[in-house]
Amino acid sequence: MPQKKIVFSNQKGGVGKTTLTRELGIYLASLGKTVLVIDLDPQANLTRSLTDEEHPGCHEALTGQRYDVFDVQPDLSLLSGDIKMAMLEKSLIAEIFGRVDRERSDSG
Ligand SMILES: Nc1ncnc2c1ncn2[C@@H]1O[C@H](COP(=O)(O)OP(=O)(O)OP(=O)(O)O)[C@@H](O)[C@H]1O
Ligand SMILES: [Mg+2]
Repeated sequence: MPQKKIVFSNQKGGVGKTTLTRELGIYLASLGKTVLVIDLDPQANLTRSLTDEEHPGCHEALTGQRYDVFDVQPDLSLLSGDIKMAMLEKSLIAEIFGRVDRERSDSG
């Protein structure tokens, strides 16, 4: 089955990323589309707006641990975000900048 990925991303805060992701997800699910919303934000506002439950989510998925794709309602599932994503962001940034520095010193 063909899949579509839609990303809501903007450096600017408070512009409606979470609200749009949530509302579009709920709308598409109401049309019978099978939707997975993925909360990569350490603030986890999307996750908190959809459930009070704690599930291993994005951090676990990206670090090779067991994770749950959690059913919020028919046709709408969630891969949770949480504060641990902030640590992962930090280590990924350090890794990327370390690689850039190494490439610069290799070429110079
Ligand atoms: N279309 C809209 N009309 C009016 N208010 C809106 C609309 N979309 C979002 N909001 C409100 O704007 C505020 C910010 O929205 P939201 O949290 O979705 O932004 P965000 O980009 O995810 O923010 P952050 O960068 O903090 O994650 C919220 O109070 C939300 O209810
Ligand atoms: Mg948000």
